[in-house]
Amino acid sequence: MDRQSGRAGIDFGTSNTLAAVRTPDGVRVCEIDPVNADPHLLPTLLYFSRYGWRRIGRAATHAYHKEPDDRYIRGLKWALPDYAPDETIRIFERRYTVSDLIGLVLGAVREQVEAELGTPVSHVTLGRPVRFSPDARVDTQAGEMLRAGAEAAGFESVRFLTEPEAATRYYFATEEALTDATVLVFDFGGGTLDLCLARFGRGEYQVLSTGGVSIGGSLLDQVLFEKKLLHHLGKGVRWGRGLDLPNHIFTRLVNPDEAWRLSEVEYARMVRGILNDSTAWGTSTPQLRTFYTVVSRRMGPDLFNAIETAKMRLSEVEETEIRFSREGVEILEPLTRAELWTLFREQLDAIRALILEVLGRGGRSARNVDRVLLAGGSSALICVQELLQDLFGPERVPVRQDLFTSIVSGLALDAGTERA
Ligand SMILES: Nc1ncnc2c1ncn2[C@@H]1O[C@H](COP(=O)(O)OP(=O)(O)OP(=O)(O)O)[C@@H](O)[C@H]1O
Ligand SMILES: [Mg+2]
Repeated sequence: MDRQSGRAGIDFGTSNTLAAVRTPDGVRVCEIDPVNADPHLLPTLLYFSRYGWRRIGRAATHAYHKEPDDRYIRGLKWALPDYAPDETIRIFERRYTVSDLIGLVLGAVREQVEAELGTPVSHVTLGRPVRFSPDARVDTQAGEMLRAGAEAAGFESVRFLTEPEAATRYYFATEEALTDATVLVFDFGGGTLDLCLARFGRGEYQVLSTGGVSIGGSLLDQVLFEKKLLHHLGKGVRWGRGLDLPNHIFTRLVNPDEAWRLSEVEYARMVRGILNDSTAWGTSTPQLRTFYTVVSRRMGPDLFNAIETAKMRLSEVEETEIRFSREGVEILEPLTRAELWTLFREQLDAIRALILEVLGRGGRSARNVDRVLLAGGSSALICVQELLQDLFGPERVPVRQDLFTSIVSGLALDAGTERA
């Protein structure tokens, strides 16, 4: 067996998972989701049918559209810091730890890679964010749970590299013109922002500092949901018997990254409560009836898709709208690029603060940085690129095409190198 092909890099992402292997002349990103528009990206999604079967990746979305009532899991990576290693989630008749669920995703990825290579894969270099949690104990535990997931998937040897370091490694291998240069890798994904400040020397690079924070595209979608859509769903409307429904209840029931964590019983009880209260309140609250329809028909994932689609569209055009129309729920909410600066103010300020902190710890200031290298889907946001151009100057922030593949490519380079 070719020893290189038995070793893979996997970027287990909040939104997308990728796998790659080192080849004699570089890296090959594997096709791990045959039914996704881009088969190199496996959307990190799981679907459990009440009849015992399950789907992973884009097939999970198709299954959810046929039967929204079964369990559709999104944002699995972000359950890592929220659960204990032995804590279980009940899905119909069975109980799963978060590591079990991750094991199912990584196991499916492993099978696809093995089928493509025609050889077993026993080693994986896995990416991980710089920080799963600001709490060091939780952070270590989340890493161990991810390792347990990889072991459950059948990998015999598991190594970690932080995601921005992986991208740094790949950029160092490919950006040949950048020598004796200070670079900042800016990896802004679905769940986290991860930074790596490095010095590219001749023949090797040195990491000066890293930093990470739990701000990503999913959080931005949630901000858009709360600030732009909640008023369509009864925010601010007096709830039955004088009760006001707090935002976190709306979010918990509608946001697909959280809704799957509720048991069927808990979910049904909350939905029944909404129905009772809104009927008691009579016909004068159309928004609450809309909310009831969204929750009881489990439209959350599609509603969030509509939000995400509009957000992504603003990377191409100046203005668009969040559009959703299904079973009597009609939402049309204008959204402009300029507005994102205001809506994401808090997150953009936190991003700027993290950059300055990482620069400070690395003993550099913004003007010492020769190049900012972008990675992660959220780096496509124009407001984020403008923030970076403002800090570093436009010529130092080139926009590249490989936002989604640089991390997994660096992981594959690491996996292909045997080290103790
Ligand atoms: N054109 C775009 N404009 C704005 N955001 C985008 C665009 N394309 C993708 N995104 C966002 O990028 C995120 C996915 O990026 P990516 O696949 O890099 O994340 P991930 O690796 O799964 O997450 P993480 O590394 O944080 O675990 C999603 O939140 C998506 O909405
Ligand atoms: Mg990522």
